[in-house]
Amino acid sequence: MRGNLLVVSNRGPFTIEENNGSLKYRPAVSGLVSAVLPAVKKIGGTWLAWAGRIAEKPAEVQAVIKDEFQFVEILLSREEVEGYYEGYANGVLWPLCHLMPEKVRMYEENYRIYREVNQKFAQKAATLLRAGTLLWIHDYHLALMPHFIRQKNPWQRIAFFWHIPFPPVELFTIQPWAEEILRGLLGADIIGFLIDDYRENFLRAVERVLRLPVNYEWGTVYYNGREILVKAVPIGIETKNFQKEVPEIPEIKEEIAGQKVFLGVERLDYTKGLKEKIQGFARFLENNPEYRGKVKLLQVAVPTRENIDQYQTYAREVLAEASRVNVRFGNNHWQPVKILKRNYSQEELIYLYRIADALVITSLEDGLNLVAKEYIASRKEPGVLILSKRTGVARQLGAALLVNPYSPEEIALKLKEALEMPDNLKKKSFSLLKEQVILKNNEWWLENFLGKELRLMDTGFGKYYRKRGEKKVGAID
Ligand code: F6P
Repeated sequence: MRGNLLVVSNRGPFTIEENNGSLKYRPAVSGLVSAVLPAVKKIGGTWLAWAGRIAEKPAEVQAVIKDEFQFVEILLSREEVEGYYEGYANGVLWPLCHLMPEKVRMYEENYRIYREVNQKFAQKAATLLRAGTLLWIHDYHLALMPHFIRQKNPWQRIAFFWHIPFPPVELFTIQPWAEEILRGLLGADIIGFLIDDYRENFLRAVERVLRLPVNYEWGTVYYNGREILVKAVPIGIETKNFQKEVPEIPEIKEEIAGQKVFLGVERLDYTKGLKEKIQGFARFLENNPEYRGKVKLLQVAVPTRENIDQYQTYAREVLAEASRVNVRFGNNHWQPVKILKRNYSQEELIYLYRIADALVITSLEDGLNLVAKEYIASRKEPGVLILSKRTGVARQLGAALLVNPYSPEEIALKLKEALEMPDNLKKKSFSLLKEQVILKNNEWWLENFLGKELRLMDTGFGKYYRKRGEKKVGAID
């Protein structure tokens, strides 16, 4: 097997479904997967993850060998999924990190199961480690895992990347398990966040809660005789994947005929501001009657975390909001909002990005948002990006039309501005956006977060560069 990297995450590159005894693989929809998959393909090694399957027999583990890397599946019981994934990870950490304490549901039992599942991942990972393996753990589902690995294996090099926002310490500590989570993460040697604000929030939490010395400038923490490096490196996408030719989707072509298109692409998650987007669009139609019949909001809404009550309620509310607007403004020939409630493949998304006059992102809180980058990378012609100020990516893509997602009036104004933007301005801002997306691509992210570690551990990454005869891309450290 190539490469000596072991990636561990909750969500893997695909979900697996069992159908009459045979296994069906579906690509997973997740920012994490879009970021990590190209890296694992490049370096090679093993990816250990849950693929969405539930099995009551804990010892059962299904390994699937793929060409470019080895995938090892971890199976969870129903109780584990409810306590670890739905209960603590998505019922406490997710809303807390997205600054929505009113959505938090705290149960001691769920945290106990979260701890146990982190131990289970650690035990399985330990069996896959070889001499010189770099272990790279991902996201808020596995915050305790670095500590469990470190306990057993003090010399193991461990990298950790946190893929969502990290909240201010005042909010993080409303949960009674804040201290243990921080200690869990500090089992790693290097910890990555998406932007500087999250990195600072984390360092402040470490300083206040654990009373450890922290160097904000260098991003270092001293803990149990080790120096831990804390970095902020925004994820980039593999832009060439979005430049290919793709087929049309005839139903969509028909649906939008003769109209301008505002596009949204989100999981049906309450952090994504879908209701606010539809309300903003309604305000736009109210304020600008001349556009009625001439413009459509095409909203991809990917079902997600469907066993959690709040997600079921949210999905219903989004659909109800869309129907209200359609009843109010639509007629027999024109439906202003079209909700596309299913998962779309990368090829289909590229088609949608290309036919959209503007991509509209109104997240209420969003770690980064890679959809914005995908839109820019996919387009052959300049397009307009309307981007919530409350996304991490707004720090990088300042040339977009930035918007406060809580203001329907502001959303309405930006929608109008997008439609009426003069060509020269559209071209100018688009080329600035494109430059950022291309420069800070997936390789840039990997190099700047993990380049040194990868070379240090001889994972084969150095060889990859030599083979391709490439120079190191703009490192920041
Ligand atoms: O990219 C952020 C993220 O939260 C990932 O951690 C997660 O895999 C993804 O979004 C989708 O959520 P889920 O894995 O719960 O379907």
